[in-house]
This record gives sequence, structure tokens and C-alpha cells, in this order.
Amino acid sequence: MEEKKLQELLNNMTEKEKLVQVFQLAACCYEEDFTPNFTGPMRDIQVDDTLKKTAGSVIGLLEPEEMQRLQKLCASGPNHIPALFMLDIIHGFKTIFPIPLGLACSWDTELMQKTCRVAAREARASGIHATFAPMADLVRDSRWGRVMESTGEDPWLNARFAEAAVKGFQGEGVGEKDSLMSCVKHFAGYGAAEAGREYNTVDMSRGVLRDMYLEAYHAAVEAGCRLVMTAFNTIERVPATCNKWLLTTLLREEWGFDGAVITDWNSMNELLAHSVAGDGKEAAGKALKAGVDIDMMSGHYLFDLGKKMEEEPELRPLLDQAVMRILRLKNEMGLFEDPGRGTDPKLARQLYLCEEHRALALEAAHKSMVLLKNERVLPLKKECRVTLAGSMAGAENLLGGWSFTGDAQDCITIPEGLKQIGANVAAPRHGWIDMDEVCALARQSDVTLLIGGEPVEETAEANSKTNLRLKEEDRKLLYSLKEQGSRVVLVVLSGRAFVLSDVEPYCDAILQAWFPGTEAGRAIADILYGIAQPEGKLTISFPYTEGQLPLYYNGFRTGRPQKEEALTGGEINEVDEIYVSHYIDCQNKPLYPFGYGLSYTDYAYRDLKLSSEYMYPGGTIQASVKVKNTGERVGREIVQLYLCDPVGSVVRPVKELKAYRLLELQPGEEQECIFTISEEDLKFWDNEEKKVLEPGRFIVMAGPDSERLLKSEFVYKLKKER
Ligand code: GLC
Repeated sequence: MEEKKLQELLNNMTEKEKLVQVFQLAACCYEEDFTPNFTGPMRDIQVDDTLKKTAGSVIGLLEPEEMQRLQKLCASGPNHIPALFMLDIIHGFKTIFPIPLGLACSWDTELMQKTCRVAAREARASGIHATFAPMADLVRDSRWGRVMESTGEDPWLNARFAEAAVKGFQGEGVGEKDSLMSCVKHFAGYGAAEAGREYNTVDMSRGVLRDMYLEAYHAAVEAGCRLVMTAFNTIERVPATCNKWLLTTLLREEWGFDGAVITDWNSMNELLAHSVAGDGKEAAGKALKAGVDIDMMSGHYLFDLGKKMEEEPELRPLLDQAVMRILRLKNEMGLFEDPGRGTDPKLARQLYLCEEHRALALEAAHKSMVLLKNERVLPLKKECRVTLAGSMAGAENLLGGWSFTGDAQDCITIPEGLKQIGANVAAPRHGWIDMDEVCALARQSDVTLLIGGEPVEETAEANSKTNLRLKEEDRKLLYSLKEQGSRVVLVVLSGRAFVLSDVEPYCDAILQAWFPGTEAGRAIADILYGIAQPEGKLTISFPYTEGQLPLYYNGFRTGRPQKEEALTGGEINEVDEIYVSHYIDCQNKPLYPFGYGLSYTDYAYRDLKLSSEYMYPGGTIQASVKVKNTGERVGREIVQLYLCDPVGSVVRPVKELKAYRLLELQPGEEQECIFTISEEDLKFWDNEEKKVLEPGRFIVMAGPDSERLLKSEFVYKLKKER
């Protein structure tokens, strides 16, 4: 439909129809026997036929045939405006992939794009038009249950994954029948909740917000996402849901975003609890002025905005603007011409868990796993006698949080996976953590597989916790097994970085498996027996203890760094080891750093070289490093390149990831990795909200993780000296 027609349509709409257009109804309201059981203002909702027919968008899911019926109903309203159906499709629809924090450890953005493409095809055929993904929140604190939805602690890598996800969901464009509109979230900075406590205050300088937290949301907008979801938290003491600088000045005027802004669930109502609004009218007015277009489930746009506009008629054009943004999205999807476009129950059921999709889920699960320790015990041989034990050994739901559209029944469990590959496994009959029986079986075995971690229901939203250790029963089992001399391989199923420092010394190997999705058990078995290689590397630091959190690799040096963190080159006073930034009862460093991961082969790095010792305006520098596979097995190594800007107009991170390569190496093979460093890589946001490039030294580092790094350096000069 042409823009002119959309404008005419808007002019034909009553105020009531406009208010319903910016309101999002829950799909369950359409069920025959529905009775409102919502909290907040929605508890009074009267879901009559008019509301059902004119709701601008619907959150939730019914059977595909039901979704078709629903759309026909919605499009039968007075102005025949179809509804948008939206849902959280975070890491798969029916075919579930590893949680994003796991998939990110593949460092494979193409894989991310492919998994999102599959999710889009399954979901669109099922009647969904938009997904509330990617979650682009930067995270530094695994006490927060939602780290599982993030891709980790690095701004630049998160940005690469966010743009890959948007491209995957939206495919060739949202007008395609197999595309989902992507809604990047939670704008902005939700991952910085103080103390990792869910929904807690977020407060940081605008410089850190820009330099660290905004990059991935911006990348999603640049990649063309069509929606942005506001975060529950405050930014500079103003809740994101009514933060005009965030939603209008930054998002629309600076970044040029032209889609629609939707609140998070009931977050408009939460403006009252935040104490920035005295009632629903004030909340609705503040949100509309800030730039919110769709109200998810608070009801204040539906119930209160009309009254607010009587008091402030100058809000009416803002309502029209919000409605137009929503109509344009529907128009981009071709829903006016064909409300049911893309919904195809028969196709949907052919796509669900099809062979091709399950194969991708297996590949993604393989690549998401990270080998943290291996004292020559993995890979296991087929004939190896194995005891299976641990609180998570029999877990049926290995799909992870935010996978409610999937079905745990479809998930390959660990016992099933081991059975599929013909492993020689003894399982306790009296329970996976029955100490006597497990220890007795282990005495007759070569290796014990101890499966620990956290059940899926302890992860994701509203699951912050302060104890990040294995369950006590697993730790006791481990200590007893070691006492009797058993060899133990620990497999960790978790949605976050666990504290493993108290168990690491007792384990012969540790595999971080995350929640691997539909093919979980098979993928774990394949990795343990070497049918697939562990290739993943961490995108979140694993703390030595909870007391270190928040913990991340790219922090500031401080004025009293420990000797090992101090800059080489004598720029600072002699460092002592007492009056420096440290703990008296714990190391500063993580147990396992960002970028770390082992494999079944080994690699040697040498010869980091730069193409020049100077870079000038408009120029670039090539950095090359040689990497050799010194083991007996083929492997894929993630070669990482970091930069450090040792002197800036503001303090600068001790190092920042700027590039990486996925290098396939045969045993004995050596390859040279070449990276091009550009001026863009040297820039940062200063305290005047400018992205600047300052002349001076830059330290270049390359290696297998953020700690084991070869170093070199160059100087960026504004002009060549004669
Ligand atoms: C939740 C989450 C958000 C999700 C929304 C809809 O509270 O914060 O990520 O998209 O509600 O389910």
C-alpha cells in the first residue's frame, strides 16, 4: 500500500482505534475460555470482540491454524488493519539451538545467522511476524540469570553477533514470506544491573554507555532491525521506557532508526514503581513523549492515554506518529494486501525439527562447547568403561531458558546421546547422585562422567543468584570419587559462568556445555568421544569466586595496577604488591579468561609482525601472526587480535578485541593470519560524546585468548615527519 493510502487510513481511524493500534494484546485473550489473570492495570481488561478485532499487535502463540483464524478476525475490523503477531524466539522456534551465550563461544557469526534463519522459517510459517531478539545486552556478571541470552562481555563481538542475528531473522527483507521482523533488546544497558540483581538499578557514565554498552544495539539498528524494545532499567536516573534522550535523540535522530519502539512487558506501568510517574496517565504521556510506539501489556495507552490527551492535546500528533510507524511495519510485510501472508501450517509442520534443521542444531551444539581442562583423559575411546552420574545426568530439558516454543520431549538427553554412539556406560539404578552406588560403579570403570550445573528453571529472567557453584551433592560426589582414585570428567550444564575454582583441582577434564538445545545429548557424546572437536572459546570471563563480580577482561588499569597489569615501558612508578588494586583473599584474574578454550590438539603462536611502525591519517597497518597445529588432530583455532591504547584523553581499557580468525589447521600445518588495523579500530567515545582518534602509541596483541598474547606496537601520527 502506498504511503498516501496509509495516511488516508490513519485519517479514517477513530481515536479509540488508534489507541488499540498502539496496544499489544496477549494471544491467550483470544482463547475461548479466557479470563483475565494479569497483574497490573491489565487485570481489569474487558476483552470484547472489538478489542480482539482491532488490537494493533498480539504477543504469544497458538496453533498455526488458530493463528490463521486470529489474523482473519483481526483483519475484519472496521478498517481491516491486520495485527502483528510477536513472540520471543531467542535461540530457535521448534528446533532449539544452544543458548546465545553458548552459541557465541563458536565465534561463528555465520552460524548465528543460519540458526536465526531457520528459526525465522519455522516461526513465520507458524504465523509469527516479529521476534523479540537479538538480546544485545553486554554482560559482566553471571549472578544475573539473563547472561544466558547475551553473547557476552565484549562490545565489538556482541555487535557482530547482533547484526548476524538481525540478518538471519530478516533474511532477504521483511517483505519475504519466510522473514521475521527483528526487535533488538533491551535498550539499553539492562545487563549492567547492579550486583547482578534482576531489575536492579543501572547507572554508568555516558562515556561508558557509549563506548561499551551501546555498540551492539547500534549494530542491530544498522543491520536494519525493525523494532527496538525498551529496557526495564534506568539510564541516568530516567527509566529507559520514558527516556527521551535514549529513544528519540540517540535512537532516531542520531542513529536514524525508523521502525517502532515497543516497551518491555508492563514496563510502562513500572514508571510508577520507579517513582517517575504518579499515575497511568502520566506514565502514558511520558512514554509517548519519549518515543514509545507500542505498549506491551501495561494497558496505559489503551486505558489512560485518551484522558491524558484531553489534558494535553499536543500529544495527539505523537499518537498519530506512533500509529503510522506500526502501519508502515505491517505494510512492509505486505499484510494489508494479504493478512495471512507467510502463515502456512502445512509448511510449518514440515519444517519443525526436519533433518536439515536438526543437523544444524547438532553442528551449533558442537561448536558452542568449551573445553576448559583436559589432563589427557579426553577424547574417550569407545571401549572405555564409563560411569554416568551427577545431578544433571538425567536432565530432560537441555534446551535452556527462553525456549518455550520448543519441546523438551524432542531433546536428546545425555544417556540417549551416549547410547546413540554406542558408548559403554554404567548408570546407577538408585539415582544419579547415590554416593555408594556411583562410587562402586566408578571403581569398575575407567572414567566417571559427572554431569553438574544448574537446572534450566534456575536460569534466564528473574533468576539472579549469589552462589554460582556446583550443587553440594555433585561436589561431595566429586571429592569422594577423587578420594578413591577415580578419573572424573566434569560436564557443566549452565546458563552462566559458574565458579569452578573449588572443583577444578579434582577434575581430570572439564567441558562447559551450556544448554546445547535439541541435539544436546548427542553433541555432548560426540565431543567427549572425539567424534567432534571442542573448538569453542569463552565470551564471558569465568570468575575465581563470586566476590570478584562484575569481572571482565577489558576493564581500566586503575592508578595502582598489579605488577603484571602495569604497562611495560616504565611510564609509572615502581609498583609494590600491597598498596595496589587487589584482594587480600583472592586473585584479580578470572579462573578462565575471555577468549579461552582448549581443543584436542595444540597450537603454537609466533612471529607477530606489523607492516609498519607508523600509521598516518587514511592509512592502515597489517598485523601478521603465525599459528601452527602442533598436535596430532585437525583443529579449528580462534586466533584473536587485541589493541591497547596506553595513553588517552580518558582512561582506556587494558585491551580490546578488534578482530579474529577461524583457522582450520591440519596436524603440523602452520598458517599466517593477517589482520588489517584501520583508524576505526583506534577510535573511542570521549566524554563529549564524540568518537575520537588520538595520536600516540598503540600496542597490538595476538594469541589464543585474552591473556596469552604476543605483543608489538606502532605509533599513530597525524603527519609524516620530513
Ligand atoms: C520479558 C522480557 C523480554 C521479553 C518480554 C516478552 O519480561 O524482559 O525480554 O521479550 O517480556 O516476553
